[in-house]
Amino acid sequence: MSEIIENSSKNHDGLVDLFSRTISYLRLSLTDRCNLKCMYCVTEDERNGCLTKLNQDELLTYEELLRVVRVAVDMGISKLRLTGGEPLVRKNVMHFIEQLGTIKNLHDIRITTNAVLLEQYADQLVAAGVNKINISLDTLKPERFAQITGVDCFEKVWRGIEKARTAGFSPVKLNMVVMRGINDDELVDFARMSRDTSLQVRYIEFMPVGVSSRWDKNTYMSSDEIKERIAVLGELIPDVGGRADGPASVFRLGEEAKGKLGFISPISHHFCDKCNRLRLTSEGMLRSCLLHDDETDLRSVLRQGCSDEEIQQTLLTAIRNKPKGHQMEERLKETGSDCHGRMSRIGG
Ligand code: 5AD
Repeated sequence: MSEIIENSSKNHDGLVDLFSRTISYLRLSLTDRCNLKCMYCVTEDERNGCLTKLNQDELLTYEELLRVVRVAVDMGISKLRLTGGEPLVRKNVMHFIEQLGTIKNLHDIRITTNAVLLEQYADQLVAAGVNKINISLDTLKPERFAQITGVDCFEKVWRGIEKARTAGFSPVKLNMVVMRGINDDELVDFARMSRDTSLQVRYIEFMPVGVSSRWDKNTYMSSDEIKERIAVLGELIPDVGGRADGPASVFRLGEEAKGKLGFISPISHHFCDKCNRLRLTSEGMLRSCLLHDDETDLRSVLRQGCSDEEIQQTLLTAIRNKPKGHQMEERLKETGSDCHGRMSRIGG
């Protein structure tokens, strides 16, 4: 089997894993730091000041990241997403993104951000070649925003979202992590927004990730239940015309809707058989499944003065170790989650 992978990469037919999935999408966590302290990402104690962060030398440098991306693109990666923590808080990030934009054969660069710094950066992101944006937003209520994120800056975030639109991102996607008892009373408000504006709302099932996640069975809400709750606004029409290039199943709320609605169901309808992703954590570890803690250490390889071939081999090893699926639903029924990696280092 490994021969298949190696041959396919040499022939530039793409990176194919042991379960015939083509790996074409790399997610880079640029930093574990974030200017928000969301309740599902950090504990109460961490919010109050005892959050351990990576040292600068634990992060891959921009030079190291650019090198990895160049090699990965040569092997068949065609889509890149910048994540964090919050990617825009890393020092000199725009210079790095501008350099990414010049990499040959890399034409799809995306970013996931909390929009706190978007007013400042949206135009530059577009100019650097970032073509798609996802914004994490779990509430439309300023007070609740402060409770969920630990920072009272909803208006600034909203200005960032507006700026993303005027800078030319189309569509602007909003990721809402749905948590029962915390923001589920806003499901219909978000749905209405996807009908009345061009914003694309994506409801994400709450996942038990990380030591600090407040996940429990009661807080989790399945996409099926979310759909039932927004049905009061009318019929959900499947968006057949849209490109299915991600895990979301996409709908419109009526023929006249200006925006769309997506459901991302990593727990109830997992998309492992179609998973095309590889992740590079902010510590330089290759992670082939968000919900499995197995990682391949790329940083040590890079820091031993490796050749490009050794980077290739390390990417292939990570892909070879990509599990068939996460079986999170079953695991939760038995012993609970064994995914302890920090979301802020993995990048979602
Ligand atoms: N469950 C589901 N989604 C999460 N995100 C962060 N933590 C969780 C979690 N435990 C979301 C972020 C971001 C996306 C990449 O993942 O809000 O929008």
